[in-house]
Amino acid sequence: MRISISTPSELLKDFDETTKQIGYSDRSKAIQTAMRNLLTDYRWAYEKKQASTGAIIVLYDHSTRGVEDALIDMQHGYDDIISALMHIHLDDKNCLQIIAVRGKADRIISLAKKITAKRGVKQVKLSVVGA
Ligand code: NI
Repeated sequence: MRISISTPSELLKDFDETTKQIGYSDRSKAIQTAMRNLLTDYRWAYEKKQASTGAIIVLYDHSTRGVEDALIDMQHGYDDIISALMHIHLDDKNCLQIIAVRGKADRIISLAKKITAKRGVKQVKLSVVGA
């Protein structure tokens, strides 16, 4: 389908520059990717029984007492959705965990929320693909 859209010129300029930098030579293709990303970012969250695949990325301060045990204990309760876990020691204080998840959206959201609430956890990002 061909569509025409209106956009502020600055937004289009930024979009073209950024998509060119990441390797898109075709604006239509870049817009299609942006549309798909928006759908996967938002649609799956409203269809909580839908199966999803993705990663929860957690930055935490490992010097906070009990945070590592708490994170591991919590993850044992979600072994039905956790496919893999990567742990990276960033520096003296900070650790990064990348938790690969696969399962029902409401379970994934529940795990991400519990992690976010833990003391010592500084940042949590949830990224879902192919919803
Ligand atoms: Ni570590």
